[in-house]
Amino acid sequence: MQKLFSVLFAISEADPLIKIGGLGDIGGTLPIALRNLSPEETDGAKLDVRVVIPYHEEIKRKNWPTEWICNYTVETRWGPRDVYLSKALNTPYPLYLIDGDPIRNTGIYSDNPFTDLNKYAFFSVAAVEMARAIQFQPNVIHFHDWHTALGVKYLKQLRPIDPFFSRTKSVYTIHNLPYSGGDFPETLRYYGIRPAYDERIPGWLRNLPMAIGLDAADQISTVSKTYAKEITTPEFGHGYEYYLSQQGGRLAGIVNGIMPDQWDPTADTKIAQRFSADRIEEERGVNKTRLQEELCLPVRADVPLFAMVGRMSYQKGFDLVIQALRQMSDVDFQAVILGTGEAPIENDSRALADTMSDRVRVEIRFDALLARRLYAAGDIFLMPSRYEPCGIAQMISMRYGCIPVAHATGGLVDTIRDPFDFPETYTGFLYRNADVGGTEWALRRAVDYFRNKPEWIKLQRRAMNQDFSWNKQAIEYLDMYRALN
Ligand code: GLC
Repeated sequence: MQKLFSVLFAISEADPLIKIGGLGDIGGTLPIALRNLSPEETDGAKLDVRVVIPYHEEIKRKNWPTEWICNYTVETRWGPRDVYLSKALNTPYPLYLIDGDPIRNTGIYSDNPFTDLNKYAFFSVAAVEMARAIQFQPNVIHFHDWHTALGVKYLKQLRPIDPFFSRTKSVYTIHNLPYSGGDFPETLRYYGIRPAYDERIPGWLRNLPMAIGLDAADQISTVSKTYAKEITTPEFGHGYEYYLSQQGGRLAGIVNGIMPDQWDPTADTKIAQRFSADRIEEERGVNKTRLQEELCLPVRADVPLFAMVGRMSYQKGFDLVIQALRQMSDVDFQAVILGTGEAPIENDSRALADTMSDRVRVEIRFDALLARRLYAAGDIFLMPSRYEPCGIAQMISMRYGCIPVAHATGGLVDTIRDPFDFPETYTGFLYRNADVGGTEWALRRAVDYFRNKPEWIKLQRRAMNQDFSWNKQAIEYLDMYRALN
């Protein structure tokens, strides 16, 4: 085994510098998990894992301390373009920031697909070229989602003609398949990147970064075993299903993890009352009381409190919960919904809070601290996602004893055990039909279970005592990287 093994992550978000969703959690934590592997787990090799993200305006606004590293250029059809490379200070691993004209004055993501591709095509090529600029020769570049997918192809085109990259392999991880990037062949030509050519990918997809990344990668992976299977079917495959179904071992599923020390109710200073799995009754309830007070809800321990947190998008199924709750006025419940996103969903949530003002609260904002208080106070956590490649909130909510009700899809299946299949060891509730009727059925079912207090506490204890840490999966990633070298 070689003594040093180097990996470069190219990704659009990395917590705590920048995080919109689960992708930012992965960018912020998987590199740490890899670096934390013990010498036994790495067969004595030293892992050098570094990360590169765009120098988003939002990071500049936060004034995160950085140092300038160097300037270099990337080639385009119309000549070289400047790249300005910095490095973030005070991060647990080397985190590089790429800046340049296509990145300046842009949001993290844009509603305009051309602006977005312009930004991320530049970033993808510049991320690969960064390795050369800092003379860091990675064994593997691990690319994430369409934002970096053109880098996969750029590397592949470079490899046969460029000794610096001749031994660098690529892993391309799908976090969200439907987000494929824009269709602008002129941007591809600008950077000399050829479209996907595999005939099993439909013609109308072949200019898209997602298709190009899938086609060019040495290894493809996605963030749960169930999603890896789902995307080989027409329902979840978005046109890629036939191609993906033909990949065999070239397509792997590795479920995401969380950092146990970031999500530990026994040590969390941001919640009203810390609590452990053995003292749920005595300690955890304080959090519920405080939350009810904070949000001016009737202070009651016996009422089931639903919590829902996340990006308000079609994917996440907020609309299903809103409609299901409307139909449940006969049930005694409280609900708190927190998030931001698509305007129609935000408006419908507000309307629900208006009509059910005695029991529903809606907070339209991104608020990581309120999210924590919800995990600690809620009884039932709602994840009616239409599809969910992995999902992280359900793992966090279980750690905090807030029991998930989730659509049986993707990573939710891989991380939650339903009483139907696991009558003794269930940790939450899964349901099959991601429509209003199915969601309502599932919420009512969870409330029935909630009424059986002694069983519910046992359930909370089981959920809290699970190990969702990254360690095992970090080893799986390392094995995957090594198999390529
Ligand atoms: C995307 C997916 C989510 C996953 C996350 C990190 O946001 O929608 O399911 O957990 O990526 O992999």
